[in-house]
Amino acid sequence: MKIGIDQLHLYSSHYYVDLKTLAVERGVDVDKFYRGIGQEQMAVPAPDEDVVTLGANAAQGLAAGGDLDDVELLLFATESGIDQSKAAGVFVHRLLGLSERCRTVELKQACYSGTAAVQLAVQYVARHPGKKALVIAADIARYELNSPGEATQGCGAAALVIAANPRLLCLEEEAGFYTEDVMDFWRPNYRSEALVDGKYSTLVYIRALEACWKQYEALSGRSLSDIDSFCYHIPFTKMAEKAHRKLCRSAGAALSASEMAAALDDSLKYSRRMGNCYTASMYVGLASLLEQSGRDLTGKRIGLFSYGSGCVGEFFSGIVQPGYQTMLQGALHQEMLRDRTELSYQQYEDIFNYRVPTDGGVYTFPEYRTGPYRLKGINGHKREYESLVESDESDSAG
Ligand code: HMG
Repeated sequence: MKIGIDQLHLYSSHYYVDLKTLAVERGVDVDKFYRGIGQEQMAVPAPDEDVVTLGANAAQGLAAGGDLDDVELLLFATESGIDQSKAAGVFVHRLLGLSERCRTVELKQACYSGTAAVQLAVQYVARHPGKKALVIAADIARYELNSPGEATQGCGAAALVIAANPRLLCLEEEAGFYTEDVMDFWRPNYRSEALVDGKYSTLVYIRALEACWKQYEALSGRSLSDIDSFCYHIPFTKMAEKAHRKLCRSAGAALSASEMAAALDDSLKYSRRMGNCYTASMYVGLASLLEQSGRDLTGKRIGLFSYGSGCVGEFFSGIVQPGYQTMLQGALHQEMLRDRTELSYQQYEDIFNYRVPTDGGVYTFPEYRTGPYRLKGINGHKREYESLVESDESDSAG
C-alpha cells in the first residue's frame, strides 16, 4: 500500500527582520548573513502568536476544506511547547473543530520530532488505511540577542496530512536513523532561549547525516545518483549546502557551484526568508522544492534528511506522485511571505523582550497581524485563543 504526504500547508508570522538591519546593529558585514550563513530574513512571531496559533493557522485551510474529517490522530511536534503537561495539539484540535474521536499528543526531540511524527503517522495509516493522520510541526527559534545563533532565528509551522494513496509524496520504507547523546543544542526548562555549541552542532549534524545515509544506502541498495532531489533540515541554508557537499564528497563526487545550485536551491527559497522553524524546517524545504521548481517532478525520488540536536537524525525518501501540482499551495505561501511587515531593529527587540505574564492575572493582548487564530490573552494561567474566522467561536483555554 502507498502511504505518504497527501497535503502540505505552511504558515509563518506576518513580521520579519531583514538581516541587513541586524547586520548594521551588530556591526557585521551583511554578507556574513546573506552569503556566509545563507539567510536573508528571519520571521518574528508577534506577541499574540505561539506554537498553537502557528500550527492552527497552518492547518486552517485543510480544516476549512473538509480534509481533516477522517483524522483520528493528531501529532503535534514542537520544541517550543507552551505547557509541560497539556499537548499544544489539544488546543489546535478544538480550534480546527476536529472529531472528538481523535488521539492527540505532543512529541519532542528537537527539530527531529516532526519526522518522528510523520513516521508514526505512516505506521498508523498502515493499520487504518481508511483514516488519516494530521501532523503539525510548529516552532519558534530563539537565541540570545547578539549571539552567533541570532541571525538564524525564525518561526513557522507545517501541517501535513498523512494518508494512503497520497497525492504529493509516497514515502518509501527504507530509512537510516541514528541517535547519539550529545550537547550541541539544548534548552533547559527555565530558559526561553536555546543554548548552543554552534560549530560543534554543525559537526554532529554531518556525523548523523553520514551514519543515516550509510544505513539507507545499505538497506535500499540505492546510491546518490538514484536520488533526484534532496531536502535537508535547514537551520540556515548554508548548513544544507555543507551537508550536501559532504555527502557527495563521501561518495566520491565533487560538486560544482552550479550543480549545488541545481540540487538544492529550490528547496532553500522559503527558509532563506523564514529562518529556522526547527521541527517544520525540513518540511518548509520540501514545500519550497515542490512549489518553486519549474520542473515536473512527477516520479522523481526525493531524499530527506531530518536532524534534531541532542541528537537524532533520519534519512528517508519519497516519490513525487502524478498530479501533485494540483495539491500545491505555492501561490498562497508566496503571498504569505510577500505580504509580511518588515520590522525595524527596535521593533524586533521589543517583540523579542515581550514575555507572556506569569502572575496568574487577567490579560488581553494587543492585536497584531496574525492568521485566523490568535492568542487573545491569558487568564488565571490559562491561555485563551480566538478565531477571527468564525464570529461564534468562543474563547476557551480548553
Ligand atoms: P558564527 O560563528 O558567528 O559564524 O556563527 P562564522 O564566523 O563561522 O561565519 C559563518 C560563515 O560565514 C563562515 O563560513 C564564514 O566564513 C562566513 P563557513 O566557514 O561556515 O563556510 N562569513 C562570510 N561570508 C561572506 N562574507 C562575509 C563573511 N563573514 C563570515 N563578510 C553558527 C555560525 C552556525 C555557529 C551560528 O549561526 C550558530 O550558532 N547557529 C545556531 C546553531 C545551528 O544552527 N547549528 C546547525 C546544526 S544543529 C541543527 O541544525 C539543529 C537545530 O536546528 C536545533 C534543533 O535541532 O532543535 C539548530
